[in-house]
Amino acid sequence: LVLTSFMLSPRLSEGITVIAHRGASGFAPENTMAAFELAVEMKADYLELDVHLSKDGELVVLHDETLERTTDGVGLVKDHTWAELSALDAGSKYEPAFHDERIPLLREVMDRYAGRIGILIELKKTALYPGIEEKLAELIEDYDVAVAAGRDGREAPVMIQSFDRESVRFLAQRLPDIPRAVLVHPDEHPLSADTLTDLASYADYINCNFEELDRGLVRDIHAQGRKVMAWTLRDEREMERIARLGVDGIITDYPVWGYEGNSRH
Ligand code: G3P
Ligand code: CA
Repeated sequence: LVLTSFMLSPRLSEGITVIAHRGASGFAPENTMAAFELAVEMKADYLELDVHLSKDGELVVLHDETLERTTDGVGLVKDHTWAELSALDAGSKYEPAFHDERIPLLREVMDRYAGRIGILIELKKTALYPGIEEKLAELIEDYDVAVAAGRDGREAPVMIQSFDRESVRFLAQRLPDIPRAVLVHPDEHPLSADTLTDLASYADYINCNFEELDRGLVRDIHAQGRKVMAWTLRDEREMERIARLGVDGIITDYPVWGYEGNSRH
């Protein structure tokens, strides 16, 4: 791995949260323990992961609602029990050397990483999984993460995000101490002032596709007292450009930015 090829100047990375998208998925199979471990080694501030629900109600970590792209399974996640999902190979499609990687349970990731690195949990395809928000809330309540939930200026150990605004709204009520983000779909740009005000009424972060971001939008989000993270950066020059817009966080497959410059590690 040529880590330095993605390293930005410490001056630019200062104060910007670095989030490893699906773990350090530029270097290891996405949403696996291998990718999460690398995110820690690379000193990312957070790992981002995606959550679905198994047939028997377990919160499982993978991106798609189907199994084909990243595993040797077939069909919908929701049609498989955890016992079936846990037997699948979630690494070989990335690279055969990763054949031992499995679909993690969210609980396994929390057990291993909560407190060591921030965890940004995305609820995916919520229409397929009625009640998934409550299940997530109950799981998070098992961990002592609300104590330093970022309300005092520190970064929160756990954050939540979703494209589904009703899910985010629910979690804002249900877990008020856990910071939450709304993901804005590219089709929605430009965001109207009314939409922005509405989102800001329940979300702490308004997370935008980097291609839609400009100084004006960053300024408008900040004017609402909210933060903005840009997704998903895979190119060093784009990271530099987006950093200069004044974003609060960068979600990237290559979380090596700040590798040396992040003084908190
Ligand atoms: O964190 C933002 C990003 O993860 C949203 O897109 O498809 O990679 O989950 P996606
Ligand atoms: Ca995601």
